[in-house]
Amino acid sequence: MSEQISETGRIAVGPLDALPDGSQTEVMVAGQSVVVINDGGQYFALRNNCTHQHFPLLGGEVVMGRITCEKHGAKFELSTGKPKTLPAVKPVQIYRTDIADGVLYVLEL
Ligand code: FES
Repeated sequence: MSEQISETGRIAVGPLDALPDGSQTEVMVAGQSVVVINDGGQYFALRNNCTHQHFPLLGGEVVMGRITCEKHGAKFELSTGKPKTLPAVKPVQIYRTDIADGVLYVLEL
């Protein structure tokens, strides 16, 4: 995890080419760990915390727009944070992303 710079409510993740398709990284947003994902050229950001038993989502397999928690297999929709399979029943907090001058940002809540 690299040092993040907050400017006007947005956290720089880094240059777009540092997060190629299919990759993930972690940034800290207002003290919260957030996993940032490039899925097919679309960027998503979710709190790095499964709502089932608080296992990190970072590194979970991403298929069909969903990330799988490696602990017990719950799947969450990247675009909404909604759980799509048990054992999770509560949504994961999502964050909006932004791109400016080739740099990816996560917006604070
Ligand atoms: S901690 Fe994620 S599915 Fe149980």
